[in-house]
Amino acid sequence: MALLTLEGVSMRFGGLDALQDVGFHLHEQQIKALIGPNGAGKTTLFNCITGALRPTAGRVLLEGRDVTAWPAHRMCHEGVGRTFQHSRLFDDMSVLENVMVGRHARTSAGLLSAFLRLPRHRREEAESRQAAMDALWRVDLVDRADQPASSLPLGERHLLEMARALATEPRILLLDEPAAGLNDEETERLATSVRRIRDEGVTILLVEHDMGFVMDISDEVVVLDYGRKIAEGPPLMIQADEEVIRAYLGEELE
Ligand SMILES: Nc1ncnc2c1ncn2[C@@H]1O[C@H](COP(=O)(O)OP(=O)(O)OP(=O)(O)O)[C@@H](O)[C@H]1O
Ligand SMILES: [Mg+2]
Repeated sequence: MALLTLEGVSMRFGGLDALQDVGFHLHEQQIKALIGPNGAGKTTLFNCITGALRPTAGRVLLEGRDVTAWPAHRMCHEGVGRTFQHSRLFDDMSVLENVMVGRHARTSAGLLSAFLRLPRHRREEAESRQAAMDALWRVDLVDRADQPASSLPLGERHLLEMARALATEPRILLLDEPAAGLNDEETERLATSVRRIRDEGVTILLVEHDMGFVMDISDEVVVLDYGRKIAEGPPLMIQADEEVIRAYLGEELE
């Protein structure tokens, strides 16, 4: 059974059909890419999967269970993690603290116990710190743990966003344009981290405009155009698809 299934997912904003009848499967330990022109609906689809938006029609299934109506915190708890297209880092906080913020989805001790510094809070704090260090380890940023987030170059900022999502212990990780703005060396380092995370058992769905990166890293590619899926298949097939070239790849590959 697929880990994640989308069935006829549609999202309407007023008079705009941002997504129309989108369906595909995501299988365990796959790296799948979602590509398409600006405004095609890629981020909107992420929002529908993660519970940030409720689709106007269609279903989202997690291992066959209908999770369409689940709110974002519950999806996170069920193992669907994400990064955002625009940076959500706290520049004044350290790298480690930025990851610990992501961990809060996993801890249960409330504000009162934090304030009173009850043993349960202290234990969770120690666990959060350890889990955050583990997440930094997974993206090769342990050396940076105590530096302010603002001191990181862009490539490492993107790795830090990934570490923060990893700290919620996802089984599925959604990455929204992780390679945007990165130079070749940073993109190569990102690819190494994404592959390693996949090899450790995490399933990856990523949105990206960097076609070199997409074709290099993905097992399968889904192409959206004006909210509709126009193609799906292995990278070589997508690169040769005439409709995809007309809608998108023609200009991206130039
Ligand atoms: N909350 C919203 N309310 C109204 N319209 C929205 C909302 N979110 C997205 N849209 C619209 O839906 C369409 C799809 O937007 P989306 O951000 O999903 O595109 P995208 O494929 O991620 O594009 P990009 O590659 O530029 O990030 C756009 O026309 C956008 O303006
Ligand atoms: Mg987007």
